[in-house]
Amino acid sequence: MTIPSQTYKPLARWLHWSMALLVLAMIPVGFLMVREGLPRGLQNNLFISHKNLGVLLLVMIVIRIIYRLRTPPPPKPAHLPAWQRQVATLTHVLLYALLFVMPVAGYVRVRAGGFPIEALDAIGLPTLVPKSDVLAGIAKSVHFYGAWAIAIIVALHIAAAVQHAVIKRDGVMSRMWPR
Ligand code: HEM
Repeated sequence: MTIPSQTYKPLARWLHWSMALLVLAMIPVGFLMVREGLPRGLQNNLFISHKNLGVLLLVMIVIRIIYRLRTPPPPKPAHLPAWQRQVATLTHVLLYALLFVMPVAGYVRVRAGGFPIEALDAIGLPTLVPKSDVLAGIAKSVHFYGAWAIAIIVALHIAAAVQHAVIKRDGVMSRMWPR
């Protein structure tokens, strides 16, 4: 059964899928790069990719939040039970929050620890936080627990999307799918 529903606007879809690809790379790269025993060159490259793509994600989530506030999404499909709409709303709010908190915590962890962020250094953007072991430690903990939270919520989000697309086939996926 396909129930016609309003779709997300092209910019919302573009932001969703490009950020999804980046986040799906960031999570495994993050968990991999902190493992002991990795070859030094590989570890450096993973750290450099993670830090710089993470900053790109921070810029993208700020754009996305502003866009979302100015351009409300289509209403949740009316055929979904109320509890599913509430869970979807909660998941989306948590994802927005974590997609903001994670890059900020990563940025603070790196800068307060006195480390470079190559893309920002190349354009001459100065460090926005003071060097501080205490601050770096707090940001590291936030980033660590946030990593598990975002991994779990992304997994639930994907499971729900796949269920709608493959099992229910109720048109929910086509609201966000690229045209
Ligand atoms: C949405 C964006 C981000 C996601 C999903 C993400 C994800 C992760 C994950 C899964 C880990 C492994 C956690 C652990 O076991 O310690 C990690 C570690 C790390 N991330 Fe990110 N990250 C993001 C953004 C950033 C940014 C913007 C930076 C820096 C500019 C950054 C810097 C780091 C660093 C330095 C570590 C190692 C932490 C440590 O052990 O000191 N991350 N990240």
